[in-house]
Amino acid sequence: MKTVLITGASRGLGFETARLLSDRGFRVILSARDRPRGEAAAAQLPGTTFVQLDITDAASVAGAVQQIAALDVLINNAGIIAEGDAEILSIPLEIVERTLVNNALGALRVAQAFAPRLMKSPAGRIVNVSSGGGQLGDGDSATWAPAYCISKTALNAVTCQLAAALKGNNIAVNSVCPGWCRTDMGGAGAPRSAEQGAEGIAWLAADAPQDKTGLFWRDREVIPW
Ligand SMILES: NC(=O)c1ccc[n+]([C@@H]2O[C@H](COP(=O)([O-])OP(=O)(O)OC[C@H]3O[C@@H](n4cnc5c(N)ncnc54)[C@H](OP(=O)(O)O)[C@@H]3O)[C@@H](O)[C@H]2O)c1
Repeated sequence: MKTVLITGASRGLGFETARLLSDRGFRVILSARDRPRGEAAAAQLPGTTFVQLDITDAASVAGAVQQIAALDVLINNAGIIAEGDAEILSIPLEIVERTLVNNALGALRVAQAFAPRLMKSPAGRIVNVSSGGGQLGDGDSATWAPAYCISKTALNAVTCQLAAALKGNNIAVNSVCPGWCRTDMGGAGAPRSAEQGAEGIAWLAADAPQDKTGLFWRDREVIPW
């Protein structure tokens, strides 16, 4: 039985991914920074355990590593969008910094911490939940949520770096865009359900060929950076 750790999984896409992988027979470790919300979410999925984990907090990450002895798959799902209507020429840099620290450096911090565990798996995987807004070639990314989009571009760079560094350990590292989904972040008007968005994340975690690494995916297809 494979063990998967999912960050930011008390709601939204993280929770739906936990549900899908639990149904698939994974040993799911559902993590969240808020203990009561995380424990309540894990209680909804039989066999799932909860670990408190704030991806921006080194002590919290170290504590999670202590509690998780073996790991096959890490899903860096936790993310924020913090800018409201702010635009690139006037956005307070504090917002850009906070978003980068959370969405890009948080994922890198967790990956660094769990890499020794993943190296002991015969076929480890890291799935970084990114966004089409992070695509450099997507003109759309120039028009909305600049801090968020910049952070997802940086997360994609983290994916490339980790993929190259971990290829020799048979650890596949990929980014995935779930599409625009109905979650607290995506809003009620999004065209996809959270489960539809989670499906592509779960596929990368469970079913994608192990030799596919350092790529950006949506709906099981590779998309440009
Ligand atoms: N929804 C979309 O349309 C869409 C599209 C493209 C990409 N994505 C990406 O998909 C991922 C999940 O998004 P979502 O739509 O499910 O968003 P969501 O409903 O807002 O959930 C985000 C989750 O991330 C957690 N989180 C944020 N910062 C954290 C931290 N420092 N440590 C631990 N957990 C943290 C939140 O925890 P709290 O409950 O404690 O706040 C929450 O559980 C994000 O990376 C997002 O950028 C979403």
